[in-house]
Amino acid sequence: MCGIVGYIGDKFVDSLLIAGLERLEYRGYDSAGIATLNKGKLRIRKTTGKIQLLKEKLKNSPLGGELGIAHTRWATNGEPTTENAHPLTGCKKSIAVVHNGIIENHIEIQKELIKEGHIFTTDTDTEVIAHLIEKYIDGNLKTAVQKALKRLKGSYALAIVSEKDPDKIVVAKKENSLIIGIGENENFVASDISAISSLTSNIIFLEDGEIGVIEKSKIEIFNGEGKLLNKKIRKLKWQLRRGPRKDGYEHFMLKEIYEQPRIVKSVLKRRVFKNKRGVHFKNIGITPDKLLKVNRLVIQACGTSWHAGWVGKYFLEKYLRLHTEVDFSSEFRYRNPIAGGDTLVMAISQSGETADTLAGIRLAKSKFVQVLSLCNTLESAIDRESDGTVYLYAGPEIGVASTKAYTAELLALFLFTIYWGRIKECISEEEAKNIIEELGKVPYLMKKILDNQKEIIECAEKYYQCSNFLFLGRGFNYPTALEGALKLKEVSYIHAEGYAAGEMKHGPIALIDDNLPVVCIVPKDSVYEKMLNNIREIKARRGKVVAIATEGDEKIKGYVDHVIFIPKIKEEFSPLLTVIPLQLLAYYIAIKRGCNVDQPRNLAKSVTVE
Ligand code: M6R
Repeated sequence: MCGIVGYIGDKFVDSLLIAGLERLEYRGYDSAGIATLNKGKLRIRKTTGKIQLLKEKLKNSPLGGELGIAHTRWATNGEPTTENAHPLTGCKKSIAVVHNGIIENHIEIQKELIKEGHIFTTDTDTEVIAHLIEKYIDGNLKTAVQKALKRLKGSYALAIVSEKDPDKIVVAKKENSLIIGIGENENFVASDISAISSLTSNIIFLEDGEIGVIEKSKIEIFNGEGKLLNKKIRKLKWQLRRGPRKDGYEHFMLKEIYEQPRIVKSVLKRRVFKNKRGVHFKNIGITPDKLLKVNRLVIQACGTSWHAGWVGKYFLEKYLRLHTEVDFSSEFRYRNPIAGGDTLVMAISQSGETADTLAGIRLAKSKFVQVLSLCNTLESAIDRESDGTVYLYAGPEIGVASTKAYTAELLALFLFTIYWGRIKECISEEEAKNIIEELGKVPYLMKKILDNQKEIIECAEKYYQCSNFLFLGRGFNYPTALEGALKLKEVSYIHAEGYAAGEMKHGPIALIDDNLPVVCIVPKDSVYEKMLNNIREIKARRGKVVAIATEGDEKIKGYVDHVIFIPKIKEEFSPLLTVIPLQLLAYYIAIKRGCNVDQPRNLAKSVTVE
């Protein structure tokens, strides 16, 4: 949510900041702004909507200058208007602040400042920061920021510039990421490595409570008490040399759906032994010895990653007989969870920056519980703060609706289970080989689905005007039903519910009439007959059924209105395939409805506020 980028140096500040914002736009895209100090004078441009609009504004009247800060916003407090867009200033318009996070006591501070004569012009929580700094500044921006921070409750990543103390950007953080990039006679600031990774690979990660003073050729980091710190410079393990590209696809979402077979293939190549009798997870930070001692696994994650966790639970229970719980991070973090000495917490996250998941990790660690993360973003906060990380290697996911990261999460869970099962000796070498051989078919089978979309497109055309959808699945495909519903509502704004099919009769059945499309995930598996019973119940109430079924299942045709076939695969791996038609269905329905599939309204790719 929200992205920050800052620059000080000799390059053209407007274009450098805009390029950084473009890389961060997936974090939030309701408004954007930029502030520079040009010969010591503060200049600001802001706009609602996309970065492109800000770019056009700047083209007509550039800001220029020696340094600048910029922001792309996902509104928390205050509507997405130009006034509420960051950077925000105080009364004298000489200080500019960009902020990620939420100031929880802003009303109280605002009241106090209004009594002192300050005039507020926005509905944001951030504006109090600018006014506080204005109140405290006497020529030293760092000292003023330090005083202001002492008043704030909540979370923040901040970058601040001031006419009263030009030639520097002051940054601070609490519970939101902020990094400093080191260049030659130039320095950078960002909320996210991807904004500046093409410009430098030397990074300082700011920690909670620290304040950084960034000048053109000097960086100083202080702790909350003002003591100068000797911070470690980290060399990035990766660099994004170019910005995200659609490579001929109309949307990132579609491109990422199509990338799935290639990702599965390359992850298998990376992880599977040459003789196919096992998998390796080297340097993941948690030793086999520690894994041997685990008797209880708690998976905590959000959204799509939480759905992946559910498939993981079923798989781990089947092969490892391991007690596995799956929790929403937003619940886990506030529940004082039980931490036995034999518990491992697993966080799953594409972005590695999700605030609730990160808070869950911190909570687990505060109880001395080891945390292993499955994460797609190297050097992200979740990667850095976990005891160990299994990388997904899905490549950057730009579409806000997660697609390829989901299947990469499933694959990582399957492979990690084999690894763990071999350590615990509950999966034999032979069994591992069979599983690996089955997984080896997945890229080809995924491609087969992608090559035959006729029925999916027809269903999209038929049902795109419906206001509600129901998705039902059982067993390994119960999470697929949840994921199918989430995809559809995210990108098309159609209300959709995902349900365990057996639960339908306990409530959702009341929704069924001849207007309600029900997508039933019904591959030929151990719960096939049970699913058929549910389908009969739906048809008896004149519901419209779209079945995701196994190739060759002629019987299903007699029961339902539409069948989308997927190739045959072992039951436990079917979620890798069944989800693809659902991703495509959501995509085509959203396109027919004229929605912005890559950047759906109200959403952001990294949810860095709770
Ligand atoms: O980056 P994370 O995996 O931690 O993100 C979790 C959710 O915010 C994310 O999966 C969200 O639900 C997506 N928009 C789903 O498509």
